[in-house]
Amino acid sequence: MKAIGRVLCATGIVAGLIAFFWKDPFTPESLSGARVLLTGASAGIGEQMAYHYARFGAEIVLTARREAVLQKVMEKCLTLGAKKIFYIPADMSSPSEPEKVVQFAVQKLGGLDYLVLNHIGMTHFQMWTGDVEYTRWLMQVNFFSYVALTTAALPTLEKNRGSLVVVSSLTASFLVVSILSFSFPGKIPTPFTTSYSATKFALDGFFSSLRHELIMQKRNVSITLCILGLIDTDTALQNTRGKVHISASPAPEAALAIIRGGATRVQEVFYPWWLQQLCCLWVLFPSNRGQVLRSYYNYSSP
Ligand SMILES: NC(=O)c1ccc[n+]([C@@H]2O[C@H](COP(=O)([O-])OP(=O)(O)OC[C@H]3O[C@@H](n4cnc5c(N)ncnc54)[C@H](OP(=O)(O)O)[C@@H]3O)[C@@H](O)[C@H]2O)c1
Ligand SMILES: *[C@@H]1O[C@H](CO)[C@@H](O)[C@H](O)[C@H]1NC(C)=O
Ligand SMILES: *[C@@H]1O[C@H](CO)[C@@H](O)[C@H](O)[C@H]1NC(C)=O
Repeated sequence: MKAIGRVLCATGIVAGLIAFFWKDPFTPESLSGARVLLTGASAGIGEQMAYHYARFGAEIVLTARREAVLQKVMEKCLTLGAKKIFYIPADMSSPSEPEKVVQFAVQKLGGLDYLVLNHIGMTHFQMWTGDVEYTRWLMQVNFFSYVALTTAALPTLEKNRGSLVVVSSLTASFLVVSILSFSFPGKIPTPFTTSYSATKFALDGFFSSLRHELIMQKRNVSITLCILGLIDTDTALQNTRGKVHISASPAPEAALAIIRGGATRVQEVFYPWWLQQLCCLWVLFPSNRGQVLRSYYNYSSP
């Protein structure tokens, strides 16, 4: 069985390489005039997504907490070619905000084609200290607000055969690695991310189950789950500096990969592309993998 697995794994890697050089069915024109609600749009990957959507001529509603920063991102989007653009400041730790934000977007744009869920609450990249209240708060920001935003937006997305795009992380995801027609479930848990990982696992569970239900009910809303490796945003670099020996990939490229995945309605996006192969190896070579992974983290016990 293991030998078969390895052969399949090698095939998977080759397939991955072919996929990498394959011309994908993404057509930028399909985003011209598309109505997008984008969360976490004031910084990092979300900000870069805003610029790409603007270049493609989309109609956009941006949201995050900091109004002054949103204003600046909006102005740059206008110079890049956004057809219409608005912003609404909102703190997703407040349970009443998600519905308000969706109502605002629907009212301004007349409906939605894309709901791109990307924001996260402040993340401590450190050992578990026992702060249960923080975990509860992060669950609200990173998970419950996603559920509430989705619930409020589903009717308009369904009407427009729209797409839900959920940004997740390799440090957290329950992955199904598909090689040919075989699927291997696997996950790569990492240290220093207890609460964050929990929120991302929750997203994966919720949205993977919802995808089945939408298909069973013939409601044509696609769900794209994006599994990212380390990306060079200010917060991520600040969090991981001196703690992890992994190089970060560029945020604008990550942002584009997410947008393409949403536009082509794929179920999963892996960025950088070799993550899928990494997950495959992780599943097929279980011995010592935890030790190998920990060797990328810098921690000396006191
Ligand atoms: N960077 C990475 O290495 C990496 C790796 C894997 C996955 N990801 C995923 O990629 C996504 C974006 O990450 P990023 O690195 O770009 O993050 P980031 O640079 O820290 O940006 C986070 C965004 O969320 C907003 N935000 C923070 N707290 C909020 C709150 N309480 N309510 C509403 N909005 C809030 C921030 O704006 P305000 O401060 O203005 O509210 C900002 O726009 C996340 O889902 C993350 O899990 C990132
Ligand atoms: C769902 O909608 C997309 C986008 O409009 C369309 O390309 C696809 O054919 C639809 N699928 C079904 C099953 O109707
Ligand atoms: C590892 O962490 C210690 C402090 O905890 C720091 O002094 C050292 O420079 C770090 N090493 C690397 C290679 O980043």
